[in-house]
Amino acid sequence: MAIRTAGPFDLELLAALHARCFEEKWTSEAYGRLLAGPGVTGFLAVAPDGAPCGFALVRAIAGEAEVLTIGVLPDYRRQGHGRALVDAMIDVAEAAGAEHLFLEVAEDNPAAQSLYRRAGFEPIARRPEYYDAERGRIDALVMRRTCRL
Ligand SMILES: CC(C)(COP(=O)(O)OP(=O)(O)OC[C@H]1O[C@@H](n2cnc3c(N)ncnc32)[C@H](O)[C@@H]1OP(=O)(O)O)[C@@H](O)C(=O)NCCC(=O)NCCS
Repeated sequence: MAIRTAGPFDLELLAALHARCFEEKWTSEAYGRLLAGPGVTGFLAVAPDGAPCGFALVRAIAGEAEVLTIGVLPDYRRQGHGRALVDAMIDVAEAAGAEHLFLEVAEDNPAAQSLYRRAGFEPIARRPEYYDAERGRIDALVMRRTCRL
């Protein structure tokens, strides 16, 4: 397992991986705009077989940081890629001097919530009906991890 930074040559790959992890599509153009934004770092997880199997984007700016997205392809889940991506984002947040790393997660996504709790995140707020999903409107939990625990 390996993590590498994602750059401008990875936009199509990021959009393709995203489409296999989420209902909502993010285009390569959207990834290009995000990655070009201030304080944004992208990561790709690479499996031992060489396949890119996961991705994450984090924004660290003005003393705070947030997870913009994270996903691992279904066939590669429960192999530690998600945790490795989260750890890479925590490193970015800490290197940027952020006090906290924030994220939003659907309340009906126990896999992601478990990943985040194990990485030191705690729920701090709820955003009612934040996600407009095919299965209905879903609340988001806001989770926060203090950097340099
Ligand atoms: C959430 C996601 C990124 C986790 O990726 P992953 O590579 O499977 O995560 P890891 O293998 O590093 O798991 C780390 C820990 O998270 C928890 N976890 C991960 N998947 C879980 C599941 N399905 N059920 C319960 N706990 C889970 C476990 O504690 C796990 O440790 P363990 O395997 O030693 O028990 C992946 O399921 C995914 O891409 N889901 C779809 C997209 C998504 O929901 N993204 C998050 C949006 S907020």
